[in-house]
Amino acid sequence: MWRRYPVGKVTDRVRFGIWERPQYAYGVNFAANLAKKLGLKAISVIEFGVAGGRGLLALEDVAERIGRHHGVRISVWGFDAGVGLQKPVDYRDQPHVWGQGDYVMDVKALKARLRFAHLNLGDVAKTVPPFLEQSGAPPIGFISFDLDYYSSTAVALKILDGPPDSRLPRVCCYFDDIVWPEEACHNEYVGEYLAINEYNAQHETCKISKLGNLRWIQPHAAEWHEQIYIHHDFAHPLYTVKLRDSLQLHL
Ligand SMILES: C[S@@+](CC[C@H](N)C(=O)[O-])C[C@H]1O[C@@H](n2cnc3c(N)ncnc32)[C@H](O)[C@@H]1O
Repeated sequence: MWRRYPVGKVTDRVRFGIWERPQYAYGVNFAANLAKKLGLKAISVIEFGVAGGRGLLALEDVAERIGRHHGVRISVWGFDAGVGLQKPVDYRDQPHVWGQGDYVMDVKALKARLRFAHLNLGDVAKTVPPFLEQSGAPPIGFISFDLDYYSSTAVALKILDGPPDSRLPRVCCYFDDIVWPEEACHNEYVGEYLAINEYNAQHETCKISKLGNLRWIQPHAAEWHEQIYIHHDFAHPLYTVKLRDSLQLHL
């Protein structure tokens, strides 16, 4: 009933998951809250894998409402090939569950519906490097990875290889393709899990790690709690800034 009539404070709605995509609301709120505490006025949030655009439209809505609540300007970016999935590279892309031509986008229809999100069309191998070099985007605070393939996710993760001021010290990441479909039998040797593990092996001071215990911290356990990870940049100049004052701790 509450989801149907989403009244109430933005932060209560985040806590109880009263959004079309509660995982996006959680991640954007995490990022906006962190930015505010670090004195940053603007952040970027990203969806890798847009397809029909339902997720990007939901992200726009979340960014607008949560940004207004925290007084943080939020830029929204979507990355997609625009022509559906390419040919899988090998078994690591899990061709037993998805393949070439799946998820074709109606580019014109989606562009007509987007209000302020930027749509970066093309293979992520071609669109991620210029994003880091030329976009002038505010620091990245939240990323949804929904590219299905290991090979695409491994490339998309390079967005976290920019200079420290291109991202917050902790970036909330949602990985869509580690639970469903059941036939995928997701595991650490293929798909998004493999891309995460390889990223961690290649980076000494940056690690992507599951946000443990989320299901115990939130009022109700939800499937997406298993899919929230944090990109930690331990060498980031802002990583060790204390976020809670002593009075708050005492209370
Ligand atoms: C499952 S769909 C995304 C669904 C969307 N997030 C939603 O919630 O509605 C996966 C998308 O990833 C995109 N994709 C996969 N590999 C890509 C790559 N290397 N470059 C750009 N886009 C890619 C495909 O074009 C496809 O549209």
